Amino acid sequence: DWTTGNVIEEQVAAIREQVGDRRAICGLSGGVDSAVAAALVQKAIGSQLTCVYVDHGLMRKGETEQVEKDFVAATGVQLKVVDAEERFLNALKGVSDPEEKRKIIGREFIRVFEQAQAEIIADEGPEVAFLVQGTLYPDVVESGGGTGTANIKSHHNVGGLPEDLEFQLIEPLRKLFKDEVRMVGQELGLPEEIVQRQPFPGPGLGIRIVGEVTKDRLDLLRDADAIAREELTAAGLDREIWQCPVVLLADVRSVGVQGDGRTYGHPIVLRPVSSEDAMTADWSRLPYDVLAKISTRITNEVRDVNRVVVDVTSKPPGTIEWE
Ligand code: XMP
Repeated sequence: DWTTGNVIEEQVAAIREQVGDRRAICGLSGGVDSAVAAALVQKAIGSQLTCVYVDHGLMRKGETEQVEKDFVAATGVQLKVVDAEERFLNALKGVSDPEEKRKIIGREFIRVFEQAQAEIIADEGPEVAFLVQGTLYPDVVESGGGTGTANIKSHHNVGGLPEDLEFQLIEPLRKLFKDEVRMVGQELGLPEEIVQRQPFPGPGLGIRIVGEVTKDRLDLLRDADAIAREELTAAGLDREIWQCPVVLLADVRSVGVQGDGRTYGHPIVLRPVSSEDAMTADWSRLPYDVLAKISTRITNEVRDVNRVVVDVTSKPPGTIEWE
């Protein structure tokens, strides 16, 4: 009989058995999967688990605090936060090409994470032998089902990890689908905002600024995104839409009139989509009054923005994200 209670009990026992008196590391992304995996392992082995959260400065408003405060409060997990905002912004300086941005963010992420791992191993010793991953059943099927160990190769090892260090993987969500993971998370007492979070790309807002990524532009986009999310939630639309990227066209300006004067500001794009699995998507027919509210608030409250546009493209041909 499948119940969340049974799943939790089984996994807790299995993880305890697997880990014994050794130690595990888990990277938190702010997403549902890593949060639930970490909470489950925390329940099993408590302070033998250390979580790592790399703050790349590309998260939406409040999301880093959600991990640092709410997740820790709900689980009691031991968390190492690495503030790497400056490092990411420096690495992204002058870069506008989407693929290049993705590569840079991915590369920096691995470097920072491995550095943190090395520090944890230096602190805690060689009994750190496990890496927790939030792999779901659909990921297992897509990748052909193999698992077991994670090989940390020296070529992207900048943190002084021993060469070819092998971690055994703990993947407590391997048999679960997304909705089941959410139920397990809820049962484990995780905050609603984490358990019900919509998909958000790893490279974060870095791929939602068309143009160069700067601190100033990120702050602006965070404000616009927070307004859109607030109004969609207030309208009760969170479950109806799959996700709603909010995109800043930083290299585009248009003429507007705000207050007593002419402005020359940037457009914000709303990209609400409905989807089953993100492979295909349709643009969401949001109620006009919700769109009107979001548009009015963004143009009134967010500096340098004088226009809000809605993306009415399906996937295909458009991807969900703009980059
Ligand atoms: P696209 O833009 O390809 O997005 O239609 C499909 C889904 O994937 C998410 N996405 C990502 N998720 N890392 C992630 O973890 C990424 O680099 C990434 N790029 C896109 C996107 O938000 C959508 O849900």
